[in-house]
Amino acid sequence: MKNKDYGVVILAAGKGTRMHSDLPKVLHTLLEKPLLGYLLDATSSVTHRWIVVGHGHHLVEAAFPEQVSSMVLQAEQLGTGHAVREAWPRVVASGVEYVCVLSGDTPLVQADCLDALVASCRSAGAAVGFVSVMLDDPTGYGRVVRDPSGAVQAVVEDKDLARLGVDAGIREVNAGVYALRVQDVGPLLERLDTANAQAEYYLPQVIPLARESGLRVAAVPAETAEDFWGVNSPAQLVALEEVVRRRVVDMWRRRAVIVRMPQSVRIGPDVELSPGVELTGPVEIYGKSQIMAGSRVESHVWMRDCRLEGATVRAFSHLEGAVLGPGCVVGPFARLRPGTVLEAGARVGNFVETKKAHLGPGVKAGHLSYLGDAVIGAQTNIGAGTITCNYDGVRKHTTHIEPHAFIGSNTALVAPVTVGEGAVVGAGSVVTKDVPQGMLCVARARQVHLPWRRKEKDHAGES
Ligand code: UD1
Ligand code: CA
Repeated sequence: MKNKDYGVVILAAGKGTRMHSDLPKVLHTLLEKPLLGYLLDATSSVTHRWIVVGHGHHLVEAAFPEQVSSMVLQAEQLGTGHAVREAWPRVVASGVEYVCVLSGDTPLVQADCLDALVASCRSAGAAVGFVSVMLDDPTGYGRVVRDPSGAVQAVVEDKDLARLGVDAGIREVNAGVYALRVQDVGPLLERLDTANAQAEYYLPQVIPLARESGLRVAAVPAETAEDFWGVNSPAQLVALEEVVRRRVVDMWRRRAVIVRMPQSVRIGPDVELSPGVELTGPVEIYGKSQIMAGSRVESHVWMRDCRLEGATVRAFSHLEGAVLGPGCVVGPFARLRPGTVLEAGARVGNFVETKKAHLGPGVKAGHLSYLGDAVIGAQTNIGAGTITCNYDGVRKHTTHIEPHAFIGSNTALVAPVTVGEGAVVGAGSVVTKDVPQGMLCVARARQVHLPWRRKEKDHAGES
């Protein structure tokens, strides 16, 4: 439900120079979810929301296609103040009284905090409000400078501290989360300049400009400092990821999930787990995975966007986009790729790879196989080393195996091909034609026995 009475601008145009990566910073991930995704979730109930994109904007658009209509292009990244200025015509046109400005690289900001920030600006009659936070290590952040009466005078960026003679030891910093009263701040944005160490238009310059104009400025202290940690370097990214990881794991432990070795379990924020599910060691579960009651995930399993409906995934398996029905057992050392569906009781064993493969109830593929673009009927047995040859170099083709078939070991099924119900394929066959139901197919070179005699060993040359 869209119900907020303020707008939101998310600044996501920066390059993230300090990340030393070509990826736009907001596409870096915490637990496999892009930073921008966190802020979109936190502001999902805001009707008027814009995202300022610039550096690598095609990549950001591609990652969030449903947001493209709310993206505003900042073609040149001339600073946070300039970024807000680019979005401003749309902010004004929306008619909101206040607009919150968030930094795409400060992803843990919560919706409640924005509500509280806007509410305290309203009650204080402030034109500019921002969240301030106390950090043990304020390096890299803008420091909050107060006058002797305690009123906020300015935010001074790390790189300008020396020039302006501001004490680098000030621990109160600007979190980069603002509420701006649209009517008052528009004219201030016009007056921003670039007279600073980075020659950029700084958004925090609206603070002294507001004061000069006799407008009120409110600094609202953060309740949880960690919610305002920014991601400016790889080390900060990992530190913040650890915060999210711990929060998510603790939440699931409180909801009766058995998490053994909780310090080494990584669960994405959009994963759902049912009470009683067991994770038995270091595992990674990401995306929109759903692990339902009766499921068990053993150590060193990596999975994304999977649904386990009461299945067991044994150690060292890698699963993506797979659905595992009740009683399925996968691994150890299995690889399930997108489009894999295992119906109740199916088993996929060690060194088996599946892709777009539908295994009916009770199918067993125990060892060393590739099953790609395959539809396999109930109770079929897939022998060790079976390969579906699904690619002819141009196109992919499907292998159909009807129920109760038996595929002997080391069989190559050259798709498109169908093995009929109850048919048996002899080991080592290369199947290129459909096998009728109930028949035994043997498609391999015949074994021949030819007369042959071992040559006498010649010892003549030896001394
Ligand atoms: C900014 C604040 C600083 C604050 C800190 C909190 C400024 C000048 N400084 O510093 O006071 O303590 O955040 O985390 O605002 N961006 C654009 N377009 C641009 C420049 C930046 O969209 O032209 C975006 C970036 O992608 C980023 C956000 O704005 O998401 C903040 O920019 P960044 O360069 O990270 O600012 P900081 O130096 O961290
Ligand atoms: Ca930043």
